[in-house]
Amino acid sequence: MANCCLHGSWILSCLLSGMWSFAILARSSAGGYYAPASAGFKPTTWALAHATFYGDESASSTTGGACGYGNVFSNGYGTSTVALSSTMFKDGYGCGTCYQIKCVQSNACIKGVPFTTVTATNLCPPNYSQDSNNGGWCNPPRVHFDMSKPAFMKIAQWKAGIIPVMYRRVLCVRTGGIRFQFQGNGYWLLVYVMNVGGGGDIATMWVKGTKTGWMSMSHNWGASYQAFASLGGQALSFKLTSYTTRQIIVAYNVAPSNWRAGMTYQANVNFK
Ligand SMILES: *[C@@H]1O[C@H](CO)[C@@H](O)[C@H](O)[C@H]1NC(C)=O
Repeated sequence: MANCCLHGSWILSCLLSGMWSFAILARSSAGGYYAPASAGFKPTTWALAHATFYGDESASSTTGGACGYGNVFSNGYGTSTVALSSTMFKDGYGCGTCYQIKCVQSNACIKGVPFTTVTATNLCPPNYSQDSNNGGWCNPPRVHFDMSKPAFMKIAQWKAGIIPVMYRRVLCVRTGGIRFQFQGNGYWLLVYVMNVGGGGDIATMWVKGTKTGWMSMSHNWGASYQAFASLGGQALSFKLTSYTTRQIIVAYNVAPSNWRAGMTYQANVNFK
């Protein structure tokens, strides 16, 4: 915060780093609002970690993960998915984040493959009955990637079991707008947020019915947020902030007034 105010586009930087973000929202062509691109996600530098894999080559076990994305195939994540150790999973706030992962320092590395890109869709839980350096790979404070088997096989031979990797967090590139999968009823709305671009993660979320003001939603589990309110029979809009970049996005009238649980509604805006 301090040094951002001393450089080039300081007004923008300072505004974006604090409570004044609302003041500079830009109108998007697609009918929502988003913060300017200068506030967007910046990749991290490459760092060392380790990777293992879970499931089989069909990656069927990547469905029903701890982010609540359900079937990751039908929800657009494919087999390029990863379970994060709890240090990175952050009780669900790590859901939807994207990583480039490359195999290093192992005979099992597949030559000529620079890296593969994966999205976090699950938690790799700790196992305290195993040593952190011998089986308990996902115990805190370790950074560990338990990749879907197809994703792992893109960078290494699966027989290796565990490999050293270099990784960096990268921008999530998504097609189309953010998707909201609804659960609940007319008095309790639980929304799973998917297909998030930019940083890929969500910090806070609000909902607004056509007859209500903006109401803050609480984090439930994984990538889901809830509101205890009478929202039946109203078209719904959502406002979200990115966990990492603090960008704000508003998706107006995402769901029609006859919305119902079990349906997925797609906005025409996304983080970039
Ligand atoms: C934790 O590790 C122990 C010892 O290897 C193993 O028996 C147990 O199944 C593991 N627990 C889980 C939940 O994976």
